[in-house]
Amino acid sequence: MHRFSYDTRYPAISDLKARAKKRIPNFSFDYVDGGIDQEHGKARNRNAWHEIDLIPRYLCDVSNADLSTRIFDKDYALPFGVPPIGLGNMMWPGAEMALATAAQKANMPYILSTFSTTPLEEIAAAAPDVAWFQLYVPKKVEVMKDLLAKVKAAGFNALVVTLDIPVGAKRNRELKNGLKLPFSFTPKIIWQCATHPTWALSTLKHGQPDFVNVLEYKEGPNEGLAQFITNFNMHGVTRERIELIRQVWDGPLVLKGVQHEPDIQAALEIGIDGVIVSNHGGRQLDAAPTSVQSLQDLASYADKGMTMMVDSGIRTGTDVVRAKALGAQMAFSGRSFFWGMGALGLAGAEQVVGIYQDEIDRTLKQVGCASFREMDGGWLA
Ligand SMILES: Cc1cc2nc3c(=O)[nH]c(=O)nc-3n(C[C@H](O)[C@H](O)[C@H](O)COP(=O)(O)O)c2cc1C
Repeated sequence: MHRFSYDTRYPAISDLKARAKKRIPNFSFDYVDGGIDQEHGKARNRNAWHEIDLIPRYLCDVSNADLSTRIFDKDYALPFGVPPIGLGNMMWPGAEMALATAAQKANMPYILSTFSTTPLEEIAAAAPDVAWFQLYVPKKVEVMKDLLAKVKAAGFNALVVTLDIPVGAKRNRELKNGLKLPFSFTPKIIWQCATHPTWALSTLKHGQPDFVNVLEYKEGPNEGLAQFITNFNMHGVTRERIELIRQVWDGPLVLKGVQHEPDIQAALEIGIDGVIVSNHGGRQLDAAPTSVQSLQDLASYADKGMTMMVDSGIRTGTDVVRAKALGAQMAFSGRSFFWGMGALGLAGAEQVVGIYQDEIDRTLKQVGCASFREMDGGWLA
């Protein structure tokens, strides 16, 4: 396993967040950091992980800890990955490629968003062993089939279908910042760019971020981000559509955003391979249960053959170990990676991997568990 070092001036994800806030324009920071409505759901996500206590066990040898996990008949060296983040390059120009490259080096999953800003073929080539593709299900079946054919041809290892955006989110920070694509340079946005020249110059050099993988399917000029997503997506992905996707996609198929038991039951019946229990990082429904709560409710589906994964609110390696104790084979953290990029530019990708790797390793050893695969509910207080 490659050992990632990290800059100890920023030893925690919260340090990266603080630095990112200074280094990138507010509209970009808010796009990543923001949640829905009053952002209570986002805060509850975070607090719920703190409530999970692990009882340390001593009297055992933990000179080495094995951090690897097995998902869809493949071993990954690390049990956490990069979830899909639309408009990734807005956090830092080139962020998506830097993250995919770091994920390949670390042997951990990297999920490319439908609304990414780097061509999917380039990401698949940079991360041939670990790249998964996330699908926002297009309303039009022919568009969906065309996109999936490209994803297959590029060689992605798994397909992740996001369920939890039946309607565009009303995110107040984005509305106040006037965030739109293509960028309309309002005086506020010009001022924010001028006061963050490193970000602005790199963005200028790299080119304005845009939804390159779906541009060809556009029918009219974009409105706000949420509006574009609303126009492209199905308003509620139906069971029939998931059944169709199951017929079209013959590789590992994952549903993301599952919180309701009948939904995971349906997934099992349709032949879905895995789920990511998630509330989209508190970005879609402020009243949604935390992913900790949903994971506790649904974890028993692992015994029925469902691969359980989780995201939303994970910020430390200890959280990844907690997630495994609750039944998740793999955990993802969206904002961690993007704060890393915002704080340190492209070097932020490996910084975040290094922090998580170190923290997972230390937590496993601290609780007396020599292998991530062995971590289970027996450690819960
Ligand atoms: C800025 C941003 C953009 C996102 N874009 C997508 C996306 O395109 N597709 C998707 O399925 N989830 C998307 N998500 C949700 C993440 O994949 C993930 O579920 C969430 O970030 C997990 O919560 P956390 O940020 O608290 O770790 C996005 C999240 C953020 C913060």
